[in-house]
This record gives sequence, structure tokens and C-alpha cells, in this order.
Amino acid sequence: MSLISKKALLKELINSVQDVKDRSWPNIMIGLHVDYVDTLNSNSKLIDTDMEDKKPIILGFEGTAHTAGVAVVRGEEIILNESETYFPPLGGIHPREASEFLGKHFPTLLETIIANLPFDVEKIDAVAFSRGPGLGPCLRITATIARAISLLLKKPLIGVNHCVAHVELGRIITPAVDPMVLYCSGGNTQLISFLNGKYRILGETLDIAIGNALDTLGRKLGLPHPGGPHIERKAKTGKKLLPLPYTIKGMSFSFSGVVTAAQKLISQQDVADICYSLQEYTFSVLAEATERALSCTKKESLLLTGGVAANMRLQEMMQNVATEQSVEFFVVPKNLAGDNAAMIALTGVRMFEKRDFITVDQSHVKSRWRTDNVEVSWF
Ligand code: ATP
Ligand code: FE2
Repeated sequence: MSLISKKALLKELINSVQDVKDRSWPNIMIGLHVDYVDTLNSNSKLIDTDMEDKKPIILGFEGTAHTAGVAVVRGEEIILNESETYFPPLGGIHPREASEFLGKHFPTLLETIIANLPFDVEKIDAVAFSRGPGLGPCLRITATIARAISLLLKKPLIGVNHCVAHVELGRIITPAVDPMVLYCSGGNTQLISFLNGKYRILGETLDIAIGNALDTLGRKLGLPHPGGPHIERKAKTGKKLLPLPYTIKGMSFSFSGVVTAAQKLISQQDVADICYSLQEYTFSVLAEATERALSCTKKESLLLTGGVAANMRLQEMMQNVATEQSVEFFVVPKNLAGDNAAMIALTGVRMFEKRDFITVDQSHVKSRWRTDNVEVSWF
């Protein structure tokens, strides 16, 4: 297929994706699928023969919950990274509304990426997408677009675990090689360490994630979603440490009790003090669990990643833990801490190097795909 007709097809695909609401867009996929199914069933045929000394160029899609992201990376270099984030008008994230948001924004994001690509679309070596964990309707929209583009470009498809991508991002853009990882986000809070082919979870939340805890209190205080950054801002002027529950079990922890207790203080105490106290208690629990994990494993570095890694107080506490344990401390940069497609594409590079591909027929989404269920062939 010539480049021109490929561009025309891409335009057609973008237009079709825009029709996501009336369900007309899968038709184009069916057409593409018939054309290319044979090649896709043997993904190895899709790789350029001169790949050996080339840095792979990966097109990545993130779409597990609130963020629609599209990125292009070459090796470890982020070339383009575009995103749009859904903010629910009221309450938490509604899965159907979030998926409609993704369906609406992916076409324009893709168009921007293609328009700004410093090379031909043909140079893209593979298409990576966030396969899970996440909200089912969001994952399906993202996977469908990634499959369509993979079929269109006749390039292999890579199914990336979103949580592992938060970790890989840190291992790629900071000097951390084999760190103890504290991954803190809206849906997950895990202490992760690599051993024998997999990322093992040494400790994790037994109920809600730290970001969810902050966002829940934020909602009760009438703060905009997500509450995390607003709580951080308010906490800066808090002075009084109010008594709250502190729940840790070995290297695992729990946050729903502390949030309920903090909520009960809303009409009685100063908002800044409540925010300050919630941060101090929850982050101290994380610090204790992390310290324990470090002393057990003897890792030489600590990596803080995930959306909540943007919090300066959490960073300060983790820096102290690292100093106490005589290990190096690394944190992902603020602009890449939250969900983004660059981390999916960068993980895609590592998986590409190991030819860790899936065919369209194998590419069902995994909404509950745990970090410790991923075969990490590339570490
Ligand atoms: P995951 O699937 O990894 O759980 P996620 O949907 O939670 O992903 P992320 O973008 O990784 O998405 O993290 C979002 C969370 O980060 C939200 O809970 C948000 O409140 C929190 N957050 C962002 N900035 C800050 C901050 N400065 N302080 C505290 N929390 C923050
Ligand atoms: Fe995330």
C-alpha cells in the first residue's frame, strides 16, 4: 500500500472513530481484519528486516479510565505525548461517560499526533495500548482503536499492563535500575519489587487506593475532582495534627477507615488541618510499609511513581525513608506521574525488543490484570 493511500485510510479511520456513538466504526475494522488477518496471525512477519540496529518507534494509546492519551516514542525518547482528561461534573468517574469521553477525544488526539510526526507513519514499528487493568468500557474503546491502527499499518500489537507501565516509566526516565517501587495512584497502591521474571507485590492496600482516599475526602469537602492536588494545597496551611486511625498490617495497609474518620471531622475542625492530618497519617503508613520492604529486600533504590507521586509531602517523606535506609531515591517527573500514553509506548519499546506481541484475536482486554500476573520478559 502506498503512503498516500495509507494516509487516506487513516483519515477514513479517524472519521469512523468519530462515529463511535452510532457504532458504525467497527465496520472499518471488519474490512481491515479480512484484508490483514493472515499477516497478523504471524506477527513476526510484520517487523522490518533491518530492525537489528534501529531504535523501535512505538505508537502508544492510554485509556484505562479518565485519560485519553496518544504518544510516539523512539527508543527511550518521547517524541510526542498528547492527552485529554475527563473530569466528572459531580462525584467520581462514571465508566460509560468516561468511555464516551475517550471515544470522542481519541480521533483528534490521533490527528494531532499524525500531523506532528517528524517522519512518515510507515516508520512506526508497533502499536501499544493499555490492555488493563481499568474500567471495562474505557479499555474496550482503547483496544478497538489500537487494533484498528495496528491492522491499518500492518504493524504488531502490544498489550501493556498499565501498572507495569507506571513502573517502567520510572526505570526508563530516572536512573533507577532494580528499585523498590512505591506505586501510588487513584486505583492502586502497591509496593513492587522484581524477582524471577515478574514484578512481585510485597504490600498493597487492602481496600481503597491512596489517591481514591484523597479524592473521596476532597469530594466530601466540595473540592473539584481529582481531590488529591487540592488536598495537598490545603494541607500546606494545616498545623494541627488531629487524631485519626493508622492501619498497617505487615507491608499492607488500609485507608477507608481513616477517610471515614476524617469526614466525621468536617463540621468540627479547620479544613486545612483535616487535609494536613489525612496526608500525615496516610503517608506515614506508606512510609512505614516502604521502610519495612526496603529493609527486607536490600534493594539499592526507591522509586515513587503513579499520579500521587506528584505530591511534594509524599516525596519528602519517601526521601527521608530512602536516606534512613541508605538507598537512592527517585521519583517520576510531575508531568508524567499521572496517566499518560508515553509510559505505554515506552513499555511497548521494551516489549517490542522481546517480540512480546499479541494478535488481534488474542487481544481481549483484562480489567483486573494484576501487576504480579504479567510475564516480564524484558527486565
Ligand atoms: P491507576 O490505574 O494507575 O490507578 P489512575 O486512574 O489513578 O491510575 P493516575 O493519573 O495514575 O490515574 O493517578 C490519579 C490520582 O493521582 C488521583 O487520585 C489524583 O488525586 C492523584 N494526584 C494527582 N496529583 C496529586 C497530588 N499533587 N497530590 C496527591 N494526589 C495527587
Ligand atoms: Fe495510572
